[in-house]
Amino acid sequence: MEKAKPIGVFDSGIGGLTVVRKLSSTLPNENIVYFGDTARVPYGSKSNETVIEYSIQNTKFLIEKNVKAVVVACNTASSVAIPELRKRFSIPIIEMINPGATAALKATRNNKIGVIGTRATINNKAYSKEIKKFNENVEVFEVACPLFVPLAEEGWIDHKATYEIAEEYLKPFKEFGIDTLVLGCTHYPILAKVIQEVIGDDVMLIDSGVASSEIVRAEIDRIGLTTNSNTLGNQNFYVSDLPIKFKEIAELFLGREIKNVQKVDVEHLVSLG
Ligand code: DGL
Repeated sequence: MEKAKPIGVFDSGIGGLTVVRKLSSTLPNENIVYFGDTARVPYGSKSNETVIEYSIQNTKFLIEKNVKAVVVACNTASSVAIPELRKRFSIPIIEMINPGATAALKATRNNKIGVIGTRATINNKAYSKEIKKFNENVEVFEVACPLFVPLAEEGWIDHKATYEIAEEYLKPFKEFGIDTLVLGCTHYPILAKVIQEVIGDDVMLIDSGVASSEIVRAEIDRIGLTTNSNTLGNQNFYVSDLPIKFKEIAELFLGREIKNVQKVDVEHLVSLG
């Protein structure tokens, strides 16, 4: 029974779908419950206290859906809320920063790593702290790219405006001479084509969601809760606002039809405390 429980995933909006996409190929037989807090996106421009409060509510919501583990598919929440979540909840909580930092350290050849993320993730220096824990000699250059989140939420994955904004944000990296760039926000892989074109093919992009799905696999295996099922897992989506728009953008991004998008009232989340 325990093994059949779904894996819970949350993000402020559609960004965590980049993690779901990877999870469905790494663990195809697992059921997934996704929560996108579309009524309260963006998290990246909010205070740490607010992001922690929302993260607790989102985790409680997923636990209410009977999940066996929670994937915090949001770098912003991962950079501020993990200690509090791990203190309060006994189920495994998987975050994005360590897997992304580890993958970047493996990839870099010249020890110059760039990181892009939300204002909160960059101001908290989440990636540079994590990277320097393992290697103090690596230089880390961090730039906040807050406009990428609404562009991704709008589905402007190939738009002229997205190119122009990317040119502006990524300009400083040309001087730094980085060879690796961490997409330190789960929304950014949605814009990966534009980001890669603007930064150039000689810079390797690191998707923290891809790196974290291996950790999810190892973690549920470690606690002995890998599903026994041989059939394709099902996925249920919950959002706190505009399910129709979420469905449209999610389908554009995932490249397949998604069913089961349900709205959750913010009042319900708040009542969970
Ligand atoms: N996708 C989230 C992240 O990884 C949050 C973006 C936002 O809500 O600002 O940081």
